[in-house]
Amino acid sequence: MENETLDLINRRVSLRKFADQEITVEERKAIIGSAMRAPTAGNMMLYSIITVDEQEKKEKLSKTCDNQPFIARAPLVMIFLADFQRWYDYYDYCNVEDYCQRRGMEFSGPSEADLLLGCCDALIAAQNAVLAAESMNIGSCYIGDIMENYETHCDLLNLPPLVFPITMLVFGHYPEKRPEIRPRFDKKYIVFQEKYRRLEEGEFSDMYSDHSISPHNKFEAENFGQYMYARKTGADFSIEMARSVRKALENWGGKVK
Ligand SMILES: Cc1cc2nc3c(=O)[nH]c(=O)nc-3n(C[C@H](O)[C@H](O)[C@H](O)COP(=O)(O)O)c2cc1C
Repeated sequence: MENETLDLINRRVSLRKFADQEITVEERKAIIGSAMRAPTAGNMMLYSIITVDEQEKKEKLSKTCDNQPFIARAPLVMIFLADFQRWYDYYDYCNVEDYCQRRGMEFSGPSEADLLLGCCDALIAAQNAVLAAESMNIGSCYIGDIMENYETHCDLLNLPPLVFPITMLVFGHYPEKRPEIRPRFDKKYIVFQEKYRRLEEGEFSDMYSDHSISPHNKFEAENFGQYMYARKTGADFSIEMARSVRKALENWGGKVK
């Protein structure tokens, strides 16, 4: 099956080296407009977007997001936030607490489930932005490290307690030579029929057969599993992300005013 939309989805790659070309006001409008057309739980739009243009702020984010200098060189930076603050401020304005008391209903802050819903909304909007950008030959890269350094990011971006930065996107035009398409695992290990299936020992060597460890293997790993644990799951940035998210969770749902 082939069509323009499938081609666009299949040619996208994460871009970290941008062409020396600004993103126009029209292009930016189209990216934001497309993000806002994304599906959203109950049409509540449980997210907000912060666009970052100040160079100093980009520089700061490039450091607080695990020292990734290309962030500061991106013509457009957008942060996607799970946002229940807007709804709780509105509930306050609408005297919902009194209303609940009158009706014998409990009035509580947003739950962990609400946070996950807000994250779903924010991420789905973000992916619409990615695809809209791609259609204009503008590449992008997700920055998950925006979940780190919660306290610093709250100060830098004026985030209230019921707002959580779930992802950041950096955008810029593709250079003449695009990065290579990166491989994916075989479908049989990712897509299951009817029920979940845990993989068996023999399947792992086949699943990871294309994923050799780096020649500069500074982690002294003997296999790909050890290498990936050292590089990702057990790495310093993951430890900081875990700390930071725990801190955000302490704030979430506690104070509703
Ligand atoms: C949630 C999420 C967080 C990511 N965070 C980063 C990041 O902090 N820095 C980075 O360079 N790439 C980041 N990426 C990009 C991935 O590394 C990239 O999508 C992956 O290597 C596959 O490459 P591709 O997008 O070109 O197919 C992130 C992607 C996702 C979906």
